[in-house]
Amino acid sequence: MTGRLILKGGTICRASGSEVGDVLVENGVVRQIGGTVEPKDGDEVYDVAGKCVMSGLVDVHVHLREPGFSYKETIESGTKAAARGGFTTVCSMPNLNPAPDTLDNLSEQLRLIRESAVVKVIPYGTITERRAGSQVVDMAAMKPYVAAFTDDGSGVQAEGVMELAMQKAAENDVLIAAHCEVESLLHGGCIHDGEFAAQNGFKGICSESEWREVERDIELAEKTGCRFHVCHVSTKESVELVRKAKERGLPVTCETGPHYLTMCDMDLKDEGRFKMNPPLRSAFDRAALIAGIKDGTVEIIATDHAPHSAEEKSRGLVGSAMGVVGLETSFAVVYSRLVKTGVITMERMVELMADNPRRIFGLEGGLEVGAAADIAVFDTEVQYKVNPEEFVSMGKSTPFEGWDVQGCAVMTLVNGEVVYKAEA
Ligand code: DOR
Ligand code: ZN
Ligand code: ZN
Repeated sequence: MTGRLILKGGTICRASGSEVGDVLVENGVVRQIGGTVEPKDGDEVYDVAGKCVMSGLVDVHVHLREPGFSYKETIESGTKAAARGGFTTVCSMPNLNPAPDTLDNLSEQLRLIRESAVVKVIPYGTITERRAGSQVVDMAAMKPYVAAFTDDGSGVQAEGVMELAMQKAAENDVLIAAHCEVESLLHGGCIHDGEFAAQNGFKGICSESEWREVERDIELAEKTGCRFHVCHVSTKESVELVRKAKERGLPVTCETGPHYLTMCDMDLKDEGRFKMNPPLRSAFDRAALIAGIKDGTVEIIATDHAPHSAEEKSRGLVGSAMGVVGLETSFAVVYSRLVKTGVITMERMVELMADNPRRIFGLEGGLEVGAAADIAVFDTEVQYKVNPEEFVSMGKSTPFEGWDVQGCAVMTLVNGEVVYKAEA
């Protein structure tokens, strides 16, 4: 973007607090935050009075499905959904075909990002070749192009392989982000192994299948000195393990999703839109996750946006594919159910959804003088019902369908360029 852009009179919401004032962007870079900016001829000026001006949100856990599964989502549709949700950067997960396990296998995704992404997309590389869990990839070669390394979709089962991966990650100063799941403990479960499963005759996925691997990987992180991030934490035991690791000074971080913070297994219905991995856990787990975002144990809210086709999600809790979409509801759900209700402050929300993901994953941009102008403007007053038919994502399956929520993005800027603007 060349020239000047002014966001006039908004409420500027940052982790340090809120103030009413203008934001000046020049040649795609943030030049001034707060105070008054006098418009000059040729400036692009937007009146955002009464709206909340924030750092563009960052979602470090998004399945964009290309290359390989473009019938579920494309980089274009997924990044348009991101922009509509107020996200300016997303990190794309590697359960693709081909999986990004070499520079060559990453190149098609990088080409599609250049050609069709409307927000910034930073891919993950895999931890192991083909995500098959045995041969660790050449991290040094991929480091310049990826946000971190993960085999998301599955956990790395063999301890020796994970240890080697973490050794290499430590040597190359890259982050390992792990989907923690012990496959031998799954026993064909489809939802949380708790009250709802017992009452309704479903096979359960036990909490231990998650936290055992969190425990193992924290030990390996300590042994190897690797920076380690736990994906989509869903159990109270995992929260406690991460809390203890942080107390010991280990470079361990974790994320959870809006659905784990606002729902539990007793909210389940026998519909595919409630099926995701990890599953919605108990009310006690939800309480522990909420305590985690309050005390800083859980530093990131990420959606695990995982679109599937309508058909793949049509087979109830047992037969549907795992995964729900999240990019277009994340802000509204977190704002309505956690900020408006006083569970967390707006400042904490900015940390969880923008500042911390940038810091932990080393991503540029945001609402800071000198930074690339990745900014989102939110209407925090508007009230509406979540209607998946309005999503621009190709995935429509969400447990939030029909929820009464408040707040939505009205404008999203990437490098100072307007990439999304709500119809007035
Ligand atoms: O719910 C999920 N969906 N969990 C995963 O681990 C994979 C993901 C997907 O790719 O659909
Ligand atoms: Zn996962
Ligand atoms: Zn995922």
